[in-house]
Amino acid sequence: MRKMTEANLQAAFSGESQAHMRYLIFADKAEKDGHANVARLFKAIAFAEQVHATNHFKTLDGIDTTSGNLQTAIDGETYEVEEMYPAFRGVAELQGEKGAVRSTTWALEAEKVHARLYGEAKATVEAGADVQIGEIHICEVCGWTGDGEKPDKCPICGAKAERIRTF
Ligand SMILES: [Fe+2]
Ligand SMILES: [Fe+2]
Repeated sequence: MRKMTEANLQAAFSGESQAHMRYLIFADKAEKDGHANVARLFKAIAFAEQVHATNHFKTLDGIDTTSGNLQTAIDGETYEVEEMYPAFRGVAELQGEKGAVRSTTWALEAEKVHARLYGEAKATVEAGADVQIGEIHICEVCGWTGDGEKPDKCPICGAKAERIRTF
């Protein structure tokens, strides 16, 4: 692909991905405000942005084998754990930005688990099997991720068990 088109598609993928996420967050807010139809509108258009993002990503040849995709995921999570979030958190601390210290700390803790789980999945996929993983628990407050027993409260932020979703 020509360089300029590639850069444009990458920018479009980023923009559509962010719009997708932003609309889902706005849908939650509309739901809480009692605007069920506004929430539905945000969710519907969020899905359209997901379709656009997917099409740009496919055109960029972003999809590999599952093993290759797991490696891409491991690389991303590892970068976040080893470089991005420690650096972002350090700057937030230096600048006294408490909210940013908290959100980067929460993400950093979860990304460590994500990297490990993807690593385990890649090893089994390469051995020719689907990964043997039980329930995966995610805290809807802080994003804590766990693959063992569901705890009574979130080990990172202390949220109650009912705020931990299981997949
Ligand atoms: Fe992650
Ligand atoms: Fe949490």
